[in-house]
Amino acid sequence: MIRSCVIGWPISHSRSPIIHGYWLRKYGIAGSYMRQPVAPEALANFLSELGASGFAGCNVTLPHKEAAFALVTRADESTERLGAVNTIYLRDGRTLGTNTDGEGFINSLKQSVPGLSLGGTRAMMLGAGGASLAVVNALLEQGVEELVVANRTLERTEQLRRRFGTRVKPLAWERAGDQLGDCSLLVNTTSLGMKGQPDLQLDLSRLAVDTVVADIVYTPLRTQLLSDAASRGNQVVEGLGMLLHQAVRGFSLWFGVTPEVTPELHDLVARDIDPEYCR
Ligand code: ATR
Repeated sequence: MIRSCVIGWPISHSRSPIIHGYWLRKYGIAGSYMRQPVAPEALANFLSELGASGFAGCNVTLPHKEAAFALVTRADESTERLGAVNTIYLRDGRTLGTNTDGEGFINSLKQSVPGLSLGGTRAMMLGAGGASLAVVNALLEQGVEELVVANRTLERTEQLRRRFGTRVKPLAWERAGDQLGDCSLLVNTTSLGMKGQPDLQLDLSRLAVDTVVADIVYTPLRTQLLSDAASRGNQVVEGLGMLLHQAVRGFSLWFGVTPEVTPELHDLVARDIDPEYCR
């Protein structure tokens, strides 16, 4: 019996057990995946005892991603740039850390918009908080030439430029609407539009019709930003896809099968988010 889990504090909201549970059933694997509450002061001990507790690895969510990065024996190069880990696996008794959020975002985009090519293009990202890091890293790895980043606190966009280089172009929050033209992609990484938060107020009148609009918020499944963009005729990519795709590599590392993100899995998780959801 192979065991994995997701650790966080609190952890009761995590939908990862639905995703991994679906794949365990689909592929007939004798494994388990559970929610594991781990308080910050218990993290170091939990990770050092991971193998002894019978786990093949774990997912890491808030507030542990940075602390777990510091605690793993080794992280891969792309994860070193991020300084945050969301997936841990054991090899030869060592605790290895990686981050699958960036590929989750990119693979979700590619599944929704198969022909999308970001290399050499200009893209715009809204937000410069913790959730933006994996998206910046992934977009630059995809060859985006100019990544305009608009954030309410401009200093955070300048921090991103210092960290990720001069392809990051800081932009004042109020100017995002003016600079929307000529973007291959517009992506929201702020918490605006999330259930319980205000909607994102952005003038889309300059948005080109071929700009793909993505949100990493997935509660609600379709944010106001996405619904406004879709009604203008733009292709939109919902945040749930990123959640599903980020889970793929962890499952493969622990359970030895590379799983598929199917419409059936999408609908299962979508119904957990919104019981009224229907395709
Ligand atoms: P996370 O780790 O989820 O990204 P975070 O680091 O607090 O959380 O970042 C939240 C993001 O949403 C930030 O970009 C934040 O802007 P600031 O850096 O200026 O705080 C953005 N955000 C949250 N509420 C906002 C609001 N009312 N208007 C504009 N941006 C907002």
